[in-house]
Amino acid sequence: MGLFKDLISIKDLTREEIDHVLVTADAMEPLAASGSDMLKGKILASLFFEPSTRTRLSFEAAMLKLGGSVISITEPRVSSVEKGENLADTIRVVENYADVIVLRHPLEGAARLAAEFSSVPIINAGSGAEEHPTQALLDLFTIFKNKGDIDGLNIALMGDLRYGRTVHSLAYALSNYAVNLYLVSPRLLRMRREIVEDISGKIKVEELEDVEEILPELDVLYVTRIQKERFPDLEEYEKVKGSYKVDLNLLSKAREDLILLHPLPRVGEIAPEVDSTRHAKYFQQTRFGLITRMAILALVLGAVD
Ligand code: NCD
Repeated sequence: MGLFKDLISIKDLTREEIDHVLVTADAMEPLAASGSDMLKGKILASLFFEPSTRTRLSFEAAMLKLGGSVISITEPRVSSVEKGENLADTIRVVENYADVIVLRHPLEGAARLAAEFSSVPIINAGSGAEEHPTQALLDLFTIFKNKGDIDGLNIALMGDLRYGRTVHSLAYALSNYAVNLYLVSPRLLRMRREIVEDISGKIKVEELEDVEEILPELDVLYVTRIQKERFPDLEEYEKVKGSYKVDLNLLSKAREDLILLHPLPRVGEIAPEVDSTRHAKYFQQTRFGLITRMAILALVLGAVD
């Protein structure tokens, strides 16, 4: 057994454990180029009951880079889920075929439930609007690689802080470090109250609507897409869509060494003209996603300590 059996919520990890993932990811970087047989004979099952590009492909590529194999359900309509099989039963079947299960599911709590039924590790690749812990780890790794440290930074999360699961996990992850955290969103998309309450006991948190108020101070600006698919009422979505955008004009007010992150996909929050600036790190972030997920798999499967 590795550092942790399952990876369900970022809240289950201590700062020491998070730091250990980052250090392990750093050590994985050469293996992303050379490949390895560290996980030879191991099978990863990826069960994705919601759309995904980066998360599924990077987990599968990470497994292959480490010499393991992959089986997957990416199209629930062609699996027994379409026949009404419940998640617990699906997990009790798939655990017989795989050494680790990566699960993305539209319901909050789905990954936790799966872990209760599974004898093999469950990695949460997105549980509804709730959490996306492996994204938070790769986000931290990207910050760490660019800035050399996480402590002491001024970091803003901007966008859909209400329905965006990546920012939920990232806010909890960052609360382990000595950062100043700015939560920037229209009122309608403010961070869930329980998260603000949980983290503001640990770090300085400020909520605001206009990023320009703090932009010149920022080391990291993390932008997210408005999660249209999670709005119960599309009229509410219409009110906030297009309410923030990062372009060259805005960035002219930022520090030279500001880094701009985004979990992707973007749908207009970052103008393409920004891509060629020194601020843009969102494609590098996807590469670090591969490395971080190699580390997570190696740790969960006990191939590294
Ligand atoms: C995110 C997700 O699925 O939550 N995508 C990802 O995993 N990189 C962000 C999003 O869909 O906006």
